[in-house]
Amino acid sequence: MTITIAAIGCSGPVASVYIQGFLAHQTEDVRIRLLTRRPKEFPEGVELVLGSMMNPDDVASAMEGVDAAFVLTPMSTCNQTQPEVDAAKAVIAGAQKAQLKHLIYTSVLGADHPRPRVGILNAKYEIETLLRHSNLSCSILRCGTYMQDAIDPRIELLNKGIYLFPIRKDARICYTCQKDVSRFVLQELLIPHKILSKPLNFTRAQSYSVAQVEDCLSAASGHTIRAVPKFPAFYLFQAALPIYNWQHHRFSSVIPLLVHFDQHGYTCDDDDDDDPDTTTTTASLVEETFPHFSMTTLEEHLASLWAQ
Ligand SMILES: NC(=O)c1ccc[n+]([C@@H]2O[C@H](COP(=O)([O-])OP(=O)(O)OC[C@H]3O[C@@H](n4cnc5c(N)ncnc54)[C@H](OP(=O)(O)O)[C@@H]3O)[C@@H](O)[C@H]2O)c1
Repeated sequence: MTITIAAIGCSGPVASVYIQGFLAHQTEDVRIRLLTRRPKEFPEGVELVLGSMMNPDDVASAMEGVDAAFVLTPMSTCNQTQPEVDAAKAVIAGAQKAQLKHLIYTSVLGADHPRPRVGILNAKYEIETLLRHSNLSCSILRCGTYMQDAIDPRIELLNKGIYLFPIRKDARICYTCQKDVSRFVLQELLIPHKILSKPLNFTRAQSYSVAQVEDCLSAASGHTIRAVPKFPAFYLFQAALPIYNWQHHRFSSVIPLLVHFDQHGYTCDDDDDDDPDTTTTTASLVEETFPHFSMTTLEEHLASLWAQ
């Protein structure tokens, strides 16, 4: 069977793990149609469609005739929700024009409430609301912190014994292995032609305190790794926020998220209810709805990272 997936917002480094995962699937012939403004080298199996995800016509031409679209929306800077929400609007308009069969959106844990203080999360809440009212057939995967983003790129620092995550050590975080997402999309959604009826918390229920992550990192690497203490790094990052805002640096949105992690952690039962009246959609968990699907643990991911 050949499965063609339109990959929208998937040309950056975060999405490259997904693209590799789709192409590495063992049993199916997976083809990717990737929308990008900037042609560059992509692995075999990726067909480039030149255009912008901000343009519904470009989105529609990437989605024409595919089995599904896999969508990431680009993070805004300065803790804003725009232009990320504008990108989603264009993607929805393009999908409607192309009469897309199935839109798979990678959202975030906590997108069930408005989060006015955290642009990265609030954008996903607004986008999920737009998707819900779009009449498109959608599957929404609410991911935790990506192991491949939070840990893998920091391997050099980790090998010096330092984990740059300066929040309180008892804050608990849920993690998602991005490789599980591609495997799940193919195995549980596209091959059996299933569309999720409600958002899925795409993480294991198990959360890890920062202190537990230190222990996992130390065990996997074979040497002691400790997180940077909250004082003074956390406060220095916050003090530098006006500079990051001025530069439109990614940290201008990442630091408010770090503050949220410090205050509330980041788990499936996140209780930061900014406005309880506007709670919308509760999500189920993979282990409840797809008990046969095995999710990678943080320990397994770290073991494979140091085995490379
Ligand atoms: N859960 C986690 O731990 C985690 C970690 C990191 C990121 N994320 C999420 O992953 C998503 C993507 O991350 P990202 O922001 O780093 O993506 P990104 O790589 O900056 O953007 C994705 C793609 O969107 C296109 N794009 C960006 N801005 C655009 C614009 N103004 N006009 C048209 N196209 C534009 C670009 O494609 P072209 O240039 O090729 O056209 C780009 O490659 C975000 O929603 C973020 O919140 C989650």
